Amino acid sequence: MPYRIPIRMIQRKSKMLCFCAVTVLIFFGIYQTFTFADSTRTPRAFGDDLENEIKAIESKIRILEQKGSKKFPEVKFLTYKDRKRILITGGAGFVGSHLVDRLMMQGHEVTVVDNFFTGRKRNVEHWIGHENFELLHHDIVNPLYIEVDQIYHLASPASPPNYMYNPIKTLKTNTLGTINMLGLAKRVRARLLLASTSEVYGDPELHPQNEEYWGHVNPIGPRACYDEGKRVAETMCYAYEKQENVEVRVARIFNTFGPRMHMNDGRVVSNFILQALQNESITVYGEGEQTRSFQYVSDLVDGLMSLMNSNYSLPVNLGNPEEHTIMEFARIIRSIVGGDSKIIKKTAMEDDPQRRKPDITRAMKYLGWSPKVPLMVGINKTIEYFQNELRRSRHSERNFHMPDTLQI
Ligand SMILES: NC(=O)c1ccc[n+]([C@@H]2O[C@H](COP(=O)([O-])OP(=O)(O)OC[C@H]3O[C@@H](n4cnc5c(N)ncnc54)[C@H](O)[C@@H]3O)[C@@H](O)[C@H]2O)c1
Repeated sequence: MPYRIPIRMIQRKSKMLCFCAVTVLIFFGIYQTFTFADSTRTPRAFGDDLENEIKAIESKIRILEQKGSKKFPEVKFLTYKDRKRILITGGAGFVGSHLVDRLMMQGHEVTVVDNFFTGRKRNVEHWIGHENFELLHHDIVNPLYIEVDQIYHLASPASPPNYMYNPIKTLKTNTLGTINMLGLAKRVRARLLLASTSEVYGDPELHPQNEEYWGHVNPIGPRACYDEGKRVAETMCYAYEKQENVEVRVARIFNTFGPRMHMNDGRVVSNFILQALQNESITVYGEGEQTRSFQYVSDLVDGLMSLMNSNYSLPVNLGNPEEHTIMEFARIIRSIVGGDSKIIKKTAMEDDPQRRKPDITRAMKYLGWSPKVPLMVGINKTIEYFQNELRRSRHSERNFHMPDTLQI
């Protein structure tokens, strides 16, 4: 049968061709108008312009390429056998983000779960996009279903203004949140480490505090949501261990400081450093005779990892036994920062513990752990961090928090 081209199709095609030709002519006209509008330009000048344009486009492409291939801190390669899948709740917070750095650099697969109540994405942003890293925006008060080998359970506001801001939420995070994480550990047979606190000892009558001491906590005071929340979280851990054979580790963490502390979290170290740096009065609550022992964050991270990977399942104190009164500490910071901040006293806080110093015999015996970073070294690093934060916030610039390599 002879093949016939329908007249309508030919008409449509010729219309299309006309339309294309007209469009090309219009664009050519516009191009001519703009390119040769300046009749004084010679063909050589035109060639130079074109070359410059091409160079500019090439450099833009290079910048885009660099942005696309993000550079990550160096990580070790671990074989499938040695690599663990590790969940860190509260991993975008101060301590959690340092733990993330260390585990990532060791070559593990790390998942961070955080509701960003006090944590910040930028604490871990240098890992976003890495094949071993995942960040989940999730509130642990709700159950979570993932497959992991180890769980570092750190999610909870930690500074008094933060945990007192919404006491019911603090209680829910430490009770329902801990139950959810223990449930997950049971389901997937993971080991769980709870970040507990020296606050479980309350305002202690025993000094220094060892793990045998049961504490002296006011169950209805302003700090109770946190202190009792952590105490019941510990109770839950050991109930799951006894009844469900879940492997648990409990770290009782004493005051810790270092870079990535939140500017306004109201903790002693950040308050004093920021006040001194801005030449404001340094505020001490009460007479300043109450004592604290401060550990640098990299020491704590070492301790948490040793405990997680040890065979020891009873609670372990992690802290630096070097004890200072709050007044001494205010003076130390003022003398390092310089300036002429006055030290002023304000009304004492309710239920503020009077003496705080860890007995770390257990950590030394079972983990071979003791803090290594001298107070002055840690303070200088932290001052440098806050100086940067202040300078950048004055210029509305972003601050990048690359992994802290301080290991002594
Ligand atoms: N830093 C210290 O001096 C210290 C001392 C004792 C105990 N601890 C414990 O260590 C842990 C970490 O403390 P930090 O100093 O890093 O505090 P942080 O406030 O910087 O970090 C806590 C993190 O938990 C997240 N979080 C809070 N509630 C959550 C929820 N419901 N769901 C998901 N994420 C939630 C926050 O957004 C934040 O990222 C806490 O459990 C704290 O109790 C810290």
